[in-house]
Amino acid sequence: MSQADIVVGLQWGDEGKGKIVDHMARKNDFVCRFAGGHNAGHTIVVGDKKYALHLVPSGVLSDSTKNIIGNGVVLSPKDFIKELEQFSNLEGRLFISDKAHLLLPYHALIDQAFEKLKGSNAIGTTGKGIGPAYEDKVARVGHRVGELQDTAKLAAKIMTHLNQHKAVLDILGVEIPNEVDLKIELDGYKQALSSFIIDTTLLVWDALKNDKKVLLEGAQGTMLDIDHGTYPYVTSSTTISAGACSGLGLNAKDIGKVTGIAKAYCTRVGNGPFPSEDLGEDGKLLRERGQEFGTTTGRPRRCGWFDAVAMRHAVRINGVDGVALMKLDVLDGFKEVKVCTGYEVDGKVIDYVPYDLDDAKPIYTSFAGWEKTEAIRSFENLPDTAKDYILALEEMIGTKISIISTGPDRDDTIIR
Ligand code: GDP
Ligand code: IMO
Ligand code: MG
Repeated sequence: MSQADIVVGLQWGDEGKGKIVDHMARKNDFVCRFAGGHNAGHTIVVGDKKYALHLVPSGVLSDSTKNIIGNGVVLSPKDFIKELEQFSNLEGRLFISDKAHLLLPYHALIDQAFEKLKGSNAIGTTGKGIGPAYEDKVARVGHRVGELQDTAKLAAKIMTHLNQHKAVLDILGVEIPNEVDLKIELDGYKQALSSFIIDTTLLVWDALKNDKKVLLEGAQGTMLDIDHGTYPYVTSSTTISAGACSGLGLNAKDIGKVTGIAKAYCTRVGNGPFPSEDLGEDGKLLRERGQEFGTTTGRPRRCGWFDAVAMRHAVRINGVDGVALMKLDVLDGFKEVKVCTGYEVDGKVIDYVPYDLDDAKPIYTSFAGWEKTEAIRSFENLPDTAKDYILALEEMIGTKISIISTGPDRDDTIIR
């Protein structure tokens, strides 16, 4: 009986999970997504080819690895079908849980309409319908992938649901489809998806029982977690390692090694508190050098310095065994590199993540910068000041930095 290892994001998403999962996938039999939907954008660079994955797990570029989309995911068949176009036949290598919830076009329309209504209080969602799809699931009025088996029944059920909410949908300007068109659309989904749909819980149990190597792929990041992130500026799922259990049907004892992914600095897309954000020249430089524009929406990412306080919170909550420190090369050329080591809240200095981060002011420690780490592939060859930075971060977060990434390419990766 084997245990499943996990990769999770430790910041506000876009840490570089895709690159590390792809790197590890070659040594794993299965890669399994457990939460989120096509709000995720995981970029993988192989030579001069760049792949943007949203729903398809990042094991897909390893020919012998099988990929599972677990029950904790909200799946938009329309976007999934589009995403599949970049791959040749994945039948037998990709499996979708019959218990995953369907994210349908009206969810996205509702998401966008509510964001507009919220005005300056908008969350800054990806507009993909993630919140409304999870709302339906928790309200017990959602529709599951397994229901695609009987599209006539599903279409009738969706129509009943939408008609019950007609008054609200009218105010939001969301049109209710007609049942005939809806059934035709669902038939298309059924045809494209049915060869992938199975009970993935049994599949993962069987894999672990047979000592297969299983890797669980997180989406988003710890600070976007519905319970432990910067609520309400979060996504609607459990993004932390604990979410992998419910999102796939595993128990806590099934979980092995936890690798947490973090950038050597920090970014966030969308609204909400970000204590170590740099609104000046340094933030701009980080955005330009790090190409910090969203994979899913193209929005410019907000940029700032590594937040050791939020990181300790993330390390503890996920049970991180080792951190992969990504995009170290983006800090190349900075004379000074800063790290947020505490927050000042109401005139008091604290070293933990409080209930509300709104008024937390960062307290910084400065480190000497370095010239170049780009594409360096061994720890010994890193400049001394970069090594000092990494060792100081390890000390601050109390966990080993076991992987260092110095470029987007698969091979620009240092394993310590
Ligand atoms: P994910 O959502 O966590 O998978 O991360 P994204 O793919 O959204 O964003 C990470 C971006 O950084 C992608 O464009 C990667 O190709 C890129 N990237 C990953 N690692 C490195 C690195 O070490 N250096 C640089 N310069 N880019 C990297
Ligand atoms: P990956 O997996 C970064 C953010 C959105 C918004 C908030 C809620 O690529 O790291 P949602 O559409 O989920 O309701 O939006 O969460 N967000 C992400 N930010 N990376 C992601 O995924 C994200 N997925 C959602 O920008 O602030
Ligand atoms: Mg991303």
